[in-house]
Amino acid sequence: MEKPFYTLPYEELPEQWYNLAADLPGAMHPPLTSDGTPATPESLSAVFPMNLIEQEMSDQRWIDIPEEVRDIIARWRPTPLRRAVYLEKALDTPARIYYKDESVSPPGSHKPNTAVAQAWYNKQAGIKQLTTETGAGQWGSALAFACQLVGLHCKVFMVRISFDQKPSRKIMMRVWNADCVPSPSETTEFGREMIAENPDTPGTLGGAISEAVQEAVGDPKGETRYALGSVLNHVMLHQTVIGLEAQKQLQQAGEKHPDRLIGCCGGGSNFAGLAFPFLSEKVNGSDIDVIGVEPTACPTMTRGRFAYDYGDSAESTPLLPMHSLGHRFVPSGIHAGGLRYHGMAPLVSHAVEQGLVDPLALDQLECYNAALLWSRTEGAICAPETSHAVAAAVREARKAREEGKERCILFNYSGHGLMDLSAYQNYLDGQLQDSTLSDQELEKGLKILDENPAP
Ligand SMILES: Cc1ncc(COP(=O)(O)O)c(C=O)c1O
Repeated sequence: MEKPFYTLPYEELPEQWYNLAADLPGAMHPPLTSDGTPATPESLSAVFPMNLIEQEMSDQRWIDIPEEVRDIIARWRPTPLRRAVYLEKALDTPARIYYKDESVSPPGSHKPNTAVAQAWYNKQAGIKQLTTETGAGQWGSALAFACQLVGLHCKVFMVRISFDQKPSRKIMMRVWNADCVPSPSETTEFGREMIAENPDTPGTLGGAISEAVQEAVGDPKGETRYALGSVLNHVMLHQTVIGLEAQKQLQQAGEKHPDRLIGCCGGGSNFAGLAFPFLSEKVNGSDIDVIGVEPTACPTMTRGRFAYDYGDSAESTPLLPMHSLGHRFVPSGIHAGGLRYHGMAPLVSHAVEQGLVDPLALDQLECYNAALLWSRTEGAICAPETSHAVAAAVREARKAREEGKERCILFNYSGHGLMDLSAYQNYLDGQLQDSTLSDQELEKGLKILDENPAP
């Protein structure tokens, strides 16, 4: 059996993040304020600290990772690159399947890579508390963990459907000293509005973001800021440690580059983290098919529109140039809560528009089916979000077998599913169905985009 495990010593932990904005072909459209003018750093300063706003707007290719941030993420980084030899065998494929294992962080996903950086920069700026939203609870628990280590208080608005489905995540947040409330909540104006409109709403990430932003901006002492777990440029930047490590580890494994690179996409951050350093190779001529996978219940890149849209339901963020299903879109309550977001990172959207990334939408039953095959061969239990990447890797491995091609497949194993066992229970009990978005619902969601300026 070949060595299925590639590790790096602490010294190989990247010292800089990679900023794809420096290398993307085609000019990026700037974020706009609601009156249609480009957003200035000052216009964002009530929500984010200036040091992160600088990163958000930077087109510098490499940005130094502060030593203290490196020290904290070194608790679990560099993460292993593993080869899924048992899955390969089960699929009888000539493909070599590698995965970057981000599930080994203390909260169990890639999210703390940016949570630690954001908490640290806020602390440097004199901030005392961070607010945020969370879908599946992975981001909320990652920010709770980061705030605890850095010395900030954390308040999390958790999308109601996940709040009810995933009680264990709430406990993790409490362990790390954070407050967690269901969204919509009665504590913000927007939450109360959402409840009045539909008392049974499952909640949305867009709505939870609005609540978290309102809570931050409303702090009379000005000591609270908001942290976003995905979508924004600085979040993509912090996640690039994943791909930078993977480049070195693939070399260790004797691979030149992946033929197929795969990541699941909610707001785009784990995908970007793995893909962006390789997209830099692709822009310079490497032949890599880069695939971003989303659920058919929330098909942002495959069926959404590339438009200016708000990042949240209450229109409190700037207008971002991105693929969107409309900021009032309410996806069905699939278990992959972290993939239920109406928009997509502007950098990922731009890469899609430039033809550098191929989006793919998968049904949830195919994903759970692949996740079970994964657990029954490789052993680990993946997060429902991650199952989308696993399913796409399985598809590619089968294609390689049909075509008799020895391909190198690399995907991001973005998190474990040990807090998501109720989803597995529902699948095993035959209680899950596919919930492909209907054309009617799609049109309803997209309509709101007509009111916004076009990119
Ligand atoms: C394990 C896991 N993977 C993927 C995602 C999707 O988010 P993103 O696209 O920002 O990586 C989430 C979001 O909560 C997640 O928890």
